[in-house]
Amino acid sequence: MIDALNRDHGLGSNLAFSRHASGLVIGEVDTVACRASFFLHGAHVASYKPKTESIDLLFMSAEAVFEDGKPIRGGIPICFPWFGAHASDPSMPAHGLVRLAPWDLVSSEIQDSAVVVRLGLTTGHWQLIYEMSFGAKMRIAFTATNQSTSAQTCELALHTYFDLQDSSQTEIRGLEQLAYLDQLTKTEMQATGKPIEFDQETDRIYFGSVNQIVIEDRARGRRVYVTPENSSSSVVWNPWIAKSQRMADFGDDEYQRMCCVETARIGRNKLDIGSHDSETVAFTVATD
Ligand code: BG6
Repeated sequence: MIDALNRDHGLGSNLAFSRHASGLVIGEVDTVACRASFFLHGAHVASYKPKTESIDLLFMSAEAVFEDGKPIRGGIPICFPWFGAHASDPSMPAHGLVRLAPWDLVSSEIQDSAVVVRLGLTTGHWQLIYEMSFGAKMRIAFTATNQSTSAQTCELALHTYFDLQDSSQTEIRGLEQLAYLDQLTKTEMQATGKPIEFDQETDRIYFGSVNQIVIEDRARGRRVYVTPENSSSSVVWNPWIAKSQRMADFGDDEYQRMCCVETARIGRNKLDIGSHDSETVAFTVATD
């Protein structure tokens, strides 16, 4: 399989496939502008580091589990076709099925010196294409096509874990004018007018579109810019102390080193896709 992937989709020193120590298939990208990696399992982006940076933009837990059928704690898990618990069947996995599934390699190419890889998966009514573009910026685009004869709804969150030097010295800007659902109290909250800072467990779904979200990690002196496309919900999550201790695949202190800012279409802003129509939701990550 690895030989066939390298023969059919490898791009010399820019993109090579191998077996990760866990046995999962990993694609590793190395361009003039960045290094990055992704698993076919879950179409999971595991790392992205522009060459201007000494530390990855994405966080990966030291306790992450890399196994068929299990989600990976870090990088960019994809939540689809539902977010959180399944609406009616508690035996179904949290955040949907596709982060647990093996995806296929569809195509790979160099475009404007970025490595662009497309992965594909068919699940239920859905034909999915996941396009990852790794260059001086990273753009991630998720496209769902409804192959059924009637309109279908679905939820999507691109559950991105950002690496921070210190979450308690981090500020998230861009969402301050939006109302949100506090997932911890299940309460609808008015816009705060203030940037988000972390000093306790934070689990919020913001409703509305924004042009840009800035993650300012003051301790590291790094600003990361997230530019969503066709997204009208954003999730901001930090598990803080007690939840970190409860999560088996996450270190007790790792809440200090990450936060999730997720480009999403969930809850009242979920996707509603007509028969044989498609929708693409995307985001770009950059730093300066
Ligand atoms: C976030 C949710 O997006 O994902 C949280 O808002 C959840 O409620 C978190 O705890 C992690 O989910 P999971 O299934 O990967 O542990």
